[in-house]
Formats: sequence, C-alpha cells, structure tokens
Amino acid sequence: MAGGDAALLVAAAPERMRNADAAWPYRQDSDFHYLTGFPEADAVLALLPGRAHGEAVLFCRERDPAHERWHGEVAGTERAVRVHGVDDAFPIEDIDDILPGMIEGRARVYCHFGREPDFDARLLGWMRRLRQLRGGGVVPKEFVALGHLLHDLRLYKSRGELKLMRDAASIAAEAHLAAMAAASPGRLEYEVEAELLRVMRSRGAVPAFPPIVAGGVNACTMHYLANRAPLKDGDLLLIDAGAEVDCYASDITRTFPVNGRWTREQCALYEVVLAAQQAAIDEVQPGCPFDAAHHAAVRVIAEGLCALGILKGHADAAIESGAYKAFFPSKTGHWLGLDVHDVGDYRVDGQARLLEPGMVVTVEPGIYVPPDVRGVAERWRGIGIRIEDDVAVGADGNTVLTAAVPKEPQELLRVLSRR
Ligand code: GLY
Ligand code: MN
Ligand code: MN
Repeated sequence: MAGGDAALLVAAAPERMRNADAAWPYRQDSDFHYLTGFPEADAVLALLPGRAHGEAVLFCRERDPAHERWHGEVAGTERAVRVHGVDDAFPIEDIDDILPGMIEGRARVYCHFGREPDFDARLLGWMRRLRQLRGGGVVPKEFVALGHLLHDLRLYKSRGELKLMRDAASIAAEAHLAAMAAASPGRLEYEVEAELLRVMRSRGAVPAFPPIVAGGVNACTMHYLANRAPLKDGDLLLIDAGAEVDCYASDITRTFPVNGRWTREQCALYEVVLAAQQAAIDEVQPGCPFDAAHHAAVRVIAEGLCALGILKGHADAAIESGAYKAFFPSKTGHWLGLDVHDVGDYRVDGQARLLEPGMVVTVEPGIYVPPDVRGVAERWRGIGIRIEDDVAVGADGNTVLTAAVPKEPQELLRVLSRR
C-alpha cells in the first residue's frame, strides 16, 4: 500500500518520568507494538520495501552488562533478530549515522509527525544528514502521515488479536464480579477499585485505563476519577473498568444498587438503559453503519424518558431537538483494540463507516440525571446509569465478549445477594 519506493518509520514510546528518578509504568506505543511486538523504549522501526539485507530494520538498545545490572536485561540487536523476528537490527546509538543512508533515494517517508517533539526533531536531523551525504543525498519528495494507512489495518482484528481481546474481557469480567462482591454500604470507592486492580494484576493484566468507581451522584460525572467517596445505602454504584492484556484492551461498565435492592426509580431507569443497550447491540452487524447502534439507543432512551415524564412531549421531538442529550450526552460506543478508544476513521467519504468482520466496538448507552437539573422531579435526580459491553463483529452477526458479567436487574441482585 505504501509502495516499494517508500520508507516507514515508527518510534517506540519514550519512557516518561513521574517525578525525579521515578518513571511511569512503561506502556509501548500501540502502533509500534502492532508492527513489532518489541517491548522496549529507545527503539525505532524502519520498514524499507525491497532492501536487499532485510526490509524490517530495528534500531534498539545494545546489551550492556553495567547498565543491565541496574535496569534489567534488554533484548539487544542479536535477539531482536533471532527472537523478535525483525530482518536486521542496529544499535540505537548509531541511528543518526545509518538511517539517512537507508532512506536515501526513497520517494516517500511515512511516519507520525507532530506527536513526539523528540521524534520530530530527530526526523529533521536525519533529513539534514541526508543532504550532507557524499555527493548530496536525495531527500524524499513527500512526508506522508502514517496514521490513516496503519490505523485502517488496526481496525480489523486478526484471530490472534481477538484471542487477546477475549482474554482481556474475561479478566475484566472477573474483576467486575470481585468488585460487586466487595461493594456494600460504608465501603469506600477506592476499596472497590482495589478489588478490580487485585484481580487484574493477579491475572497478569494491567488496567486499560484508570477505573471509574462512582457511587450515587458521582456517576453523573462522565469521567469521574476521584474514587474516594463512601458508598451509601440506597445509592447505585457505577463501575467502568477494563483490563489490558499484551496491550489489548477491554472496557466494561456495570451499575447496581450498593445495598442489593433497586428503588422503583433506579430500576425504571435501569430497564430503559438495558433496553437501549440491547437495541444498540442488535445493530452491531456486518454491513450496518457504525452509528446505527447510537441511533437505536437514542430512540429507546428518548422514548423511555418521555414515558417516565423526565422528558416532556414526544420522543420524536426530543430526538429532533436534541433534548435527550441533557440525560444522555455521550455517544453509544467507540472502536476497541490496542487503545481503549481505538484508532480508525468512523466516517468514510462523509458517511458512517459500515461494520465489517474483525471490527470490535463498545456499546455503552447511559442515562445521567444531573442533581441540579431543572424541571425533573426530585426522585430522579442524581441517578447515573451506564451499561457497557465489548462486541466483536463476525461474518454473520456479533459476539458479546463481556457477557460473563450479569446485567439483567434480577440476575444482578442474585449476584449481590451472595455477598
Ligand atoms: N472507559 C472509557 C469509556 O467507556 O469509553
Ligand atoms: Mn468504559
Ligand atoms: Mn468505553
């Protein structure tokens, strides 16, 4: 697709410092992981179609016993080829001397620019060096944003990728069940978060994003992260948490009553969200537009809110005017993969993209009644509910990867009653 006269350059994620000498846990760049599976920082992949000594070239850290004594083993160039499967590897220290000559004469360079200032600066440096090559090197005519090409590939998950996503879903499901068992009135949101993390880490996974553990009115804050309030008798608890396995994400939300009993209002709103979610999941089919799930969820939620008197008038008018957005401000889902909000265009030629086998989406409608909303009876206010599952598009339908966590209202109560 890039052409035999192109070069593709992708850099590993840099290590990021938290403070002083303490680094954040390392997470490889998703594009670099997708192309190499190589787990280290300080590395650059060059894909050079037609290069006689190997097309996939990795620049990486060379082995150094003194450094490894402090920081642990690295693969080194020899194992990069033998174990990680690249065709050729060189020490990263030598990249400025070697890479410009490899790019010389190629018409186009595909890479990300404007993302990492360090990489941008190095790229310009390589072009300067290229000009300085003996006889004056030929600088590529074009720099092309790599995103579109690569991110379209990432949208279609292979069998191996789907296996990892099923593992990530299964670990997140187990974590949610443990969180439900740990939640009860008087416990703190972070105690429930601790259960999520315990299960994920004990299964070798990491959180795919900081978990949201939002009791009562906190669930109306879409990106609530504080997780430090006590859980109250009579409140709902919304938990949005996913696991990451070998860089592949899952993303699950469940909402349930902390004391194991629904109030009439909580249950009425919950039934609407669940019906909206089911209607949306039914639209996740090969050949259906990506936004059909959202339209289905909006219709069920608008009709439900009108029937309960939370929205006035007819559902058609609430949809047309956007009045439903006061209670359902988000979209119904996103691509899921290496990134929790995964890459890939949602629209093609101005139209919603049609779903195809191998794509994975989340389906996550919600109703959030803000505590200070006007014109809504007091009894509804401060209730926030979201139900989120991960759904893989197949050749003849879909598979819900996260079905192991119950979501039917009575089934949830049965799970909670075992606490
Ligand atoms: N957890 C982020 C999301 O649901 O999109
Ligand atoms: Mn989520
Ligand atoms: Mn999500």
